Amino acid sequence: MTTLCCLLMEVTMSMKEGKVIGRASFQLRHLLHPSLSHPIINSPSSTPQGRRHVRACVFSGQQLSYFLSLVSALVAWLVENFLLHHDMPVVKKIYNACKDSFTPKGPISTEDLEKVRAILDELKPANVGLEQEAQSSQKWKTSANGNNGKKGRNGSQQYPPPITYLHIYECESFSMGIFCMPPSSIIPLHNHPGMTVLSKLLYGSLHVRSYDWLDLPEPADPTQARPASLVRDCEMAAPCGTTVLYPTRGGNIHCFKAIAPCAIFDILTPPYSVEKGRHCTYFRKSARRDLPDGIDQLEDINPTEVVWLEEIQPPDNFVVLRGQYKGPVVKKA
Ligand SMILES: [Fe+2]
Repeated sequence: MTTLCCLLMEVTMSMKEGKVIGRASFQLRHLLHPSLSHPIINSPSSTPQGRRHVRACVFSGQQLSYFLSLVSALVAWLVENFLLHHDMPVVKKIYNACKDSFTPKGPISTEDLEKVRAILDELKPANVGLEQEAQSSQKWKTSANGNNGKKGRNGSQQYPPPITYLHIYECESFSMGIFCMPPSSIIPLHNHPGMTVLSKLLYGSLHVRSYDWLDLPEPADPTQARPASLVRDCEMAAPCGTTVLYPTRGGNIHCFKAIAPCAIFDILTPPYSVEKGRHCTYFRKSARRDLPDGIDQLEDINPTEVVWLEEIQPPDNFVVLRGQYKGPVVKKA
């Protein structure tokens, strides 16, 4: 098995260098032992050299079986990685990677999570049926379309434009979907309890603000405000890399405000589940300004970035409509 792995690695590296045949043949020659290429093989069997030739042939026969199984495995690997996957939609590759990497408890390991992130980094709007929307977003100008929400009498915005969610897939281990946000639309501050979230901004730009709870005892009353530390407060514009937030770090509590029309491809692992206690809670900044007891025991906390967050009901004007996903199907029903 070790030899197989070595061979595969050699062939893979050599293919990148465009000399697969030479490297592979070197490996196979090495594998089959010098006896195959030794001139003794061509000697008559009646001589001492011939008897050695028979032994060499028997030995080579055993190795031939091993060699054939090796070639078979190599061909299967090449078909799997260079033929079948060559035309596989990126979103299907992401689905396959999620299937391999996530469990109902979340990512199997950091390496597995990184595998998914690496493929997600390559995702483009055209891979999920959003090429036209992405092109429209590029043409969008703040000056011409600064605010497309409805206005109240005094000119204030009363109804932010609705957000659309394109559902792609969900199982007990993960969910995949896309939030399409018109300019000025807002996803209010909310959490992802016990979840790891990968987000890839496909097109457009938005402002993101995120927090993590301070590692202090939780209040007995969950409706009481709880201290959190600012993690991120910045603008993001596509193209950009995938962001990852974790159950207790990376900005698990976050909000988005679209600047230009934008779309975010989200993978949640595990997904929200009311039955399993993973429900979405919305928050707002509390009026409290004091610093919590015990903050001096915490490392890497900037007291000026500590806020108190309190639970709220989702705002009435926060509307998410279900849209139709028009990209490749990841799993046939
Ligand atoms: Fe979120």
